[in-house]
Amino acid sequence: MASVRTLSSRDIQSMRDVGRLAADTLLMVGDHLQPGITTEDINVLVHEYTIAAGARPAPLNYRGFPKSVCTSVNHVVCHGIPAPMTLESGDIINVDVTSVLPARNGWFGDTSATFYIGTPPPLARHVTEIARESLEVGIAVVRPGARVGDIGHAIQSFAEAKGCSVVRDYTGHGIHRVFHDAPSIPHYGTPGTGIILKKGMTFTIEPMINIGHWAVDHLDDDWTVVTRDGSLSAQFEHTILVTKGGCEVLTRRSRPLKNSEDVEWARLGPLASFVPPAPQASDSTNATGA
Ligand code: MF3
Ligand code: CO
Ligand code: CO
Repeated sequence: MASVRTLSSRDIQSMRDVGRLAADTLLMVGDHLQPGITTEDINVLVHEYTIAAGARPAPLNYRGFPKSVCTSVNHVVCHGIPAPMTLESGDIINVDVTSVLPARNGWFGDTSATFYIGTPPPLARHVTEIARESLEVGIAVVRPGARVGDIGHAIQSFAEAKGCSVVRDYTGHGIHRVFHDAPSIPHYGTPGTGIILKKGMTFTIEPMINIGHWAVDHLDDDWTVVTRDGSLSAQFEHTILVTKGGCEVLTRRSRPLKNSEDVEWARLGPLASFVPPAPQASDSTNATGA
């Protein structure tokens, strides 16, 4: 099994800096969403905000990806490519931001959320809120000594009990100075299996939750992943650091996300207190997430 990197306190500070930038970028996107905006408009917003911060949008040219952010609408599971496509009331859209800071040779922060455009139908609300809670449920498991399978099991049992399915083909991933590294973090699985989490590891949790079956198909643009049955899909993602007492959510937000966390039906968990943890004397303490 591939070994998993653990970060020094200096590295961790760099991960905090890029995590905050990615979180702020997602907040900015939420502020701009409304019927009539195109996914290409979102791409421009993310690209310019990222460059102005002295960072680089990780998706651009990553394995040939042509844009600076992923925009996945309705039955698109992930890796949707921004285009001159107008969003309409009733759509849901996942916006997945990955920033690299500094722009050259920097650290990666990866976070996504599903947003509501106008008024969503009931199934769109359901899958989005279950995806939001699935991420919270997964984060709550993270502490030194827990296993990767514990995270997947917690998410799968929660989402399936709510009548949804968990996408199998894409997982969370180790992240630091590399975009996608070991360990792989499946959002389904068996408790007590998989690698043991250790203090200083950084990885994403990013459950993709479908209203229908978990099976996916790929469009011939080589990127866009869709549900095979055409059912709606939603996703939330955070970049997480394992700490002595649990974990720190490196991409936590400083305020509620507009058009997602501010709606009256949003099922917000403990992460949504939006209170940043107190300044830390060392990397061994923390408050957020578990
Ligand atoms: N941000 C995605 C993830 O969560 C990866 C996007 S790769 C891209 O891992 F090339 F599509 F941008
Ligand atoms: Co990711
Ligand atoms: Co991502």
